[in-house]
Amino acid sequence: MSTAAQNRQLTPADIRARKGGPPIVCLTAYTTPVAKLADPACDLVLVGDSVGMVLHGLPSTLGVTMEMMILHGQAVARGLRRALMVVDMPFGSYEESPEQALRNAARLMRETGAAAVKLEGGGAMAETIRFLTRRSIPVLAHVGLTPQAIHTLGGYKVQGRGADRARVLADARAVAEAGAFGAVLEKVPAALADEITGEIDIPTIGIGASAGCDGQILVVDDMLGLFAEFRPKFVKRYAHLAEDAERAIATYAAEVRARTFPAQEHIFADEAGV
Ligand code: KIV
Repeated sequence: MSTAAQNRQLTPADIRARKGGPPIVCLTAYTTPVAKLADPACDLVLVGDSVGMVLHGLPSTLGVTMEMMILHGQAVARGLRRALMVVDMPFGSYEESPEQALRNAARLMRETGAAAVKLEGGGAMAETIRFLTRRSIPVLAHVGLTPQAIHTLGGYKVQGRGADRARVLADARAVAEAGAFGAVLEKVPAALADEITGEIDIPTIGIGASAGCDGQILVVDDMLGLFAEFRPKFVKRYAHLAEDAERAIATYAAEVRARTFPAQEHIFADEAGV
């Protein structure tokens, strides 16, 4: 099913059915205007917990709360008509027990209208993924580099090299067997991403992985060149909006100081209609 051809909102089952089919196009979004821009071209829009770093200036995703995810989820929902919306479960909202995960996933879905949640972790989260999916909560898994685990992983490093390869492969197998409808593979070697994609029966969504994945995702502010502080190797900049914005703001400031803004066309006369 191509995005252009469908006129209803995609479901987790639609994404699951795209295994081995045309690549699944995914982006993050955190606001209504960006969701509206992404919707016509994307199959899946993720309200990622990257929102904490990208929009709120946090040093990592660890400080993101349920309330932040709900507020941004509600904003994104207002901008989507066709793409599936998935909301990230923030750090600390699901790791304690499957019951805690169910409570918070249900709250995210109820209060945002999302049809699915994403959570980070492989084998250690398999029981929770099984518990949620058996209780009508579609789960997008996330393995490889899992940014909420930055302090145990020791930084934002490539995962699954050398002796670590078997761990990442086992994580991908575990989340697929547990019932996830798809799995994000973040920052893993391309050959490993290809092997996982060939082996598991759910779509893989790559970020810093391989063009052979069943789909790709990027943080929208990164690919638009809006988030200038951070430029990982796996991000391709399709626009340079930070530079454009800097130029525009500098020009505005200069015109205000020179009293050339507002000009005649921006001000109002005494008579109505002029
Ligand atoms: O939070 C996020 O934006 C993500 C994507 C990078 C996959 O998890």
